[in-house]
Amino acid sequence: MIRPLIAGNWKMNGLQASEAELRSVIDAVKKSDGGADVLICPPATLIARFAEIARGTPVAIGGQDCHAKASGAFTGDVSAEMIADAGGAAVIVGHSERRALHAETDAIVKAKAEAGFRAGLTVIVCVGETESERLAGRTLAVVTGQLEGSLPQGAGAGTLVVAYEPVWAIGTGRTATKDDIAEAHAAIRQRLGERLGSAGQDVRILYGGSVKPDNASEILAVANVNGALVGGASLKAADFLAIVGGVPR
Ligand code: PGA
Repeated sequence: MIRPLIAGNWKMNGLQASEAELRSVIDAVKKSDGGADVLICPPATLIARFAEIARGTPVAIGGQDCHAKASGAFTGDVSAEMIADAGGAAVIVGHSERRALHAETDAIVKAKAEAGFRAGLTVIVCVGETESERLAGRTLAVVTGQLEGSLPQGAGAGTLVVAYEPVWAIGTGRTATKDDIAEAHAAIRQRLGERLGSAGQDVRILYGGSVKPDNASEILAVANVNGALVGGASLKAADFLAIVGGVPR
């Protein structure tokens, strides 16, 4: 069985005082092996501090995005090497907010994912359809197309994670049905197998989009769902821990 991953994406939320939430998560995860790996991706300003606090604990810290280059004249950007240097172990790339608000194409996402591997990070590649794409019956074509275009060279089961996040479910309180999730995850699993061979069977596929304490256990029990990428509900330790507690045993 694949060990699930519950990842928190704090987005542009969190100040130094928020380390209290991190400490609560660490304390609880330390006490009980919840049966899942736990990752928190705070804003870039907090990665180094959070990584210092989490060092030697079962909670890992990651970034929410990285530049494809290791360094250079890219004002405002952060490289994968910088995330690793700050103590980060993972990076999210291709989140729909980056794709939509920063015009990131599959090719850009792929280059960022390869940068993550270059820096020794676990890379979470996000894919997902918009509502109009779903209504047009194009969900699986969009999702597998994004995966095909964004999948980095050198991807292996240990370091690659895919997150299926229907854009219309992010931050809206709406979630895909269990059948819709199963269908998308099966299509992703199949495409991973075609691209990576048997290693594709072990890549973790997370579901994201309004995962909350009250729907987590149902979603996490769906076939080929190997964890969750949690936005809003990851900001409060109690909610996030309830989701971690929802992994199937
Ligand atoms: P949400 O965000 O849980 O707030 O819907 C998920 C995400 O964007 O990763």
